[in-house]
Amino acid sequence: MSFDLKSLLRPHIAGLKPYSSARDEYAGKEGIFLDANENPYGSTAPGNFNRYPDPYQIEIKEKLAEIKKVKPDQVFLGNGSDEAIDLLLRAFCNPGKDNIIILPPTYGMYEVSAAINDVEIKRVPLCEDFQLQPQKILEAVNDFTKVIFICSPNNPTGNLMKKKDIYQVLENFNGIVVVDEAYIDFAPEVSMVAELEKYPNLVVIQTFSKAWGLAALRIGMGFASTQIISILNLIKPPYNISGLTQEKVLEALSLPNAVYGMVGKIMEGKNELVRKLEEMDEVIQVYHSDANFVLVKIPQAKEIYHYLIEEKIIIRDRSKVTLCDNCLRISVGTPEENEAFLTAFASYTKPTTK
Ligand SMILES: Cc1ncc(COP(=O)(O)O)c(C=O)c1O
Repeated sequence: MSFDLKSLLRPHIAGLKPYSSARDEYAGKEGIFLDANENPYGSTAPGNFNRYPDPYQIEIKEKLAEIKKVKPDQVFLGNGSDEAIDLLLRAFCNPGKDNIIILPPTYGMYEVSAAINDVEIKRVPLCEDFQLQPQKILEAVNDFTKVIFICSPNNPTGNLMKKKDIYQVLENFNGIVVVDEAYIDFAPEVSMVAELEKYPNLVVIQTFSKAWGLAALRIGMGFASTQIISILNLIKPPYNISGLTQEKVLEALSLPNAVYGMVGKIMEGKNELVRKLEEMDEVIQVYHSDANFVLVKIPQAKEIYHYLIEEKIIIRDRSKVTLCDNCLRISVGTPEENEAFLTAFASYTKPTTK
């Protein structure tokens, strides 16, 4: 395999002159700042938000680099990992010409982002056991295939993909392979970030929205070669991570053990939820989950979903999705929330007879 990043990149991006923000030109913290047309008096809301934030979020990247054992310039931060997905498409896929490969059932934003960018979508479904079909994926590749999205643990099925299958795709495809690890903190396997040195075409995506409990701050991570990260930096909006978000994420990173405590509680809740669902006669299958949600096959999934909404319990109906006929996806809540769900679920499947 010969991976050539330059030939993969959209030609006009290779020659792009990026916007140079005031904070790019002078990065020091001391001085009289009359360069960015800010308000010198402070903010109209409590807190100090009158200055533009660091456009490259260096402090966060240095901390993350230590935790993830990469270099700071191998880290990209986006407004949610959804921003990284969109920027990868914009960097590598010529609208109306190139294509991406997705592996349904999988996370819906790959498809939406591709559609927004007028990029063709090729679909290679997972096997019945929700694992990859590497040979079929590679057969679907043509001269215009630029990105393959692999979600592991996968949403909505919850399972990790076998690493040997991911390696097979990485080793035999000359384009970008994105491994989306939004749920990796819940999984019993190490991240693919450890493979970055070996695979120049690998991009690993993670997020602060799940295990870290920071979904509202909108911050996601991309890890890749310094060359790929510099392309994402070139095309991102100048201040894509707000100052408030940067502040809060730095606080979270200064207490990295908090995430383990929360993950432990969520995993306990999941085991209990799975055990109780498996005891229910009506449930056809509770699929193995390496994430913080479970996929359950049950007759009348759609009706149950609507019934639960009336009970103010909101889950996800995935029954229209490839290979997920009659499937519901349930996020693990607190023990009280899980119990409320189970009680309402049981009351639908076993209505009280009068
Ligand atoms: C697999 C996967 N990737 C990415 C995301 C996006 O996460 P965010 O944009 O909040 O970082 C989600 C959100 O549900 C997801 O399930």
